[in-house]
Amino acid sequence: MAKGTSNRTVTRGRFITFEGGEGAGKSTQIKLLAERLNAARIRTLLTREPGGSPGAEIMRHMILSGIGALIGGPEAETLLFAAARDDHVHTVIEPALAQGFWVLCDRFSDSTRAYQGQMGEVAPALLNAMQRVTIGDLKPDLTLILDVPVEIGVKRAATRRGTAAPDRFEAESLEFHRRLREAYRQIAVDEPQRCVLIDANAKLKPVAAKVWAAVQQRLLSSKLNEVQHA
Ligand code: TYD
Repeated sequence: MAKGTSNRTVTRGRFITFEGGEGAGKSTQIKLLAERLNAARIRTLLTREPGGSPGAEIMRHMILSGIGALIGGPEAETLLFAAARDDHVHTVIEPALAQGFWVLCDRFSDSTRAYQGQMGEVAPALLNAMQRVTIGDLKPDLTLILDVPVEIGVKRAATRRGTAAPDRFEAESLEFHRRLREAYRQIAVDEPQRCVLIDANAKLKPVAAKVWAAVQQRLLSSKLNEVQHA
């Protein structure tokens, strides 16, 4: 081995995504989880979609301004989300996982499945092709789907927004948000190994406790095993 290099192998980090409709409380809960993991001496990287890398953040502004709807509807929007995700995965998420960071991402590919697939009725063939190109085999180790009744979620989002104008998706109808909630609940049913549906219609602390319980049960017990067998 070359002088000065270390033979310590870095264990790949874990990839956790947070999903849910508008006003589900993802952004707050993801920060609380990062604090808790950091306190447990696990290095975390907090990121979000659309965005998360300099290039993807530029695309985020375009997408949320509603340009996708102007230039060709849900298919065009799907391509924009895919372009942003491609940059984010390759420049931020993959390198961080390889360095052993636990990556916590506010929205990821399930958002495309729910928003563009279910709501925009984009064909599964296009979604699958985009997924292959952008994320390949990368799959979250755990996806926490925060579930709240639509009226409550929309109200929370409006309170958070204050006097600012709603973005492209916040401005959609209640019926849109109802179908979106169902799409997420279906993802949780279809992939129980990866997804945990969290009842987020409660105060901050009880929801954070459920998030932490899911992480402990699904990921931390196996991490302890890894350490014991190392
Ligand atoms: P954001 O302000 O981050 O919303 P939230 O706080 O609800 O997460 O805006 C992101 C919006 O983009 C949100 O309405 C969901 C939507 N979106 C998609 O439609 N498809 C996607 O693949 C992603 C990542 C987000």
